[in-house]
Amino acid sequence: MARLTAAITGVGGYLPPDILTNADLEKMVDTNDEWITSRTGIQERHILKEEGKATSDLGVEAVKDLLKKSNTSKDDIDLIICATVTADRVFPDTANNISYKVGCSKAFGFDVNAACSGFLYSLNIGAKFIESGTYQKVIVVGADMMTSIVDYQDRTTCILFGDGAGAVLLEPSEEGFGIKNAVLKADGSGLPFLHMKAGGSLRPPSIETIQNREHYAYQEGKHVFKRAVNGMVESTKEVLKQANLSTEDISWVVPHQANKRIIDSVAHMLDFPMERVMVNIHKYGNTTAATIPLCLNDYENQLKKGDKLIITAFGGGFTWGSTLVEWAYDPL
Ligand code: UT7
Repeated sequence: MARLTAAITGVGGYLPPDILTNADLEKMVDTNDEWITSRTGIQERHILKEEGKATSDLGVEAVKDLLKKSNTSKDDIDLIICATVTADRVFPDTANNISYKVGCSKAFGFDVNAACSGFLYSLNIGAKFIESGTYQKVIVVGADMMTSIVDYQDRTTCILFGDGAGAVLLEPSEEGFGIKNAVLKADGSGLPFLHMKAGGSLRPPSIETIQNREHYAYQEGKHVFKRAVNGMVESTKEVLKQANLSTEDISWVVPHQANKRIIDSVAHMLDFPMERVMVNIHKYGNTTAATIPLCLNDYENQLKKGDKLIITAFGGGFTWGSTLVEWAYDPL
């Protein structure tokens, strides 16, 4: 029997309807459109404003879109993995909530917390359940409501993030399509540069932590920037080497969307043409675990069966890595 690989057989996405523009941010903090656009490439982000809605609701819409587009029954889903840093609650997991709200009657699920590399990690975890022959239909959803952990008094971070969700379906392929080589990395010494100070077991919520504004994402951007470029470039080179490929063999690079200048630098250092790099940061900002599936969703109509994609990400932890994907279908 042919060795099974885990093919991506469908993509879905969701952005909440409200939009936060650079002009809106100018009214909230000491910033301006020129700075934001030239330093980050971001023009606007979608934000979830509806009372009582959370990350799982973003994920639900992305999963429903995926099921509809891929003509898949919710009852056939075996497993849902949700990559997120903005779980609805500390527990239970958001994947379970998404599964319940969509009505995936037999699916089990769990969350993966690997910040901006969460989707990349989850894609590879999901692939193992398919490659082993254990399951037939696995959904990997990246969903984050970043506005719930962004400090709108901190101009260095609040301009970066948006809300959104994207999802892919993994199914077995006997033709070798799907998730191939991967290089996944982590370095806990990166913690001081990107983290949330309170809200976990180390510093449970208290009046003091709230007064100190410790429940927001904290970032030392300059250091993260350098490590991100280096991590994405080096892990991509390692994947290419493992797969015995060069950048000329690659149809598309799908980078995490944190900063347009990071994306430009990665492409430049890999000597890869920007026309074949997926970019949507101008519309959505950094949606953390959702950036990569939202790119795949936006570019789906340009992807052809057999295209080789490099997915690469870097995020809090630090976590980072790259994976090679051979696309399994032509435009719908
Ligand atoms: O997705 C997870 C991983 N995260 C990332 O990859 C993010 C990586 N980092 C970055 O994207 C960038 O470092 C930032 C966008 C966060 C910052 O850009 P930068 O080019 O590194 O700016 P900087 O921090 O060096 O700040 C330059 C100047 C400073 O002023 P002075 O000290 O030169 O007078 C800042 O105070 O820009 C100032 N500044 C701003 N000015 C207007 C910082 N934020 C703003 C702002 N508007 N929003």
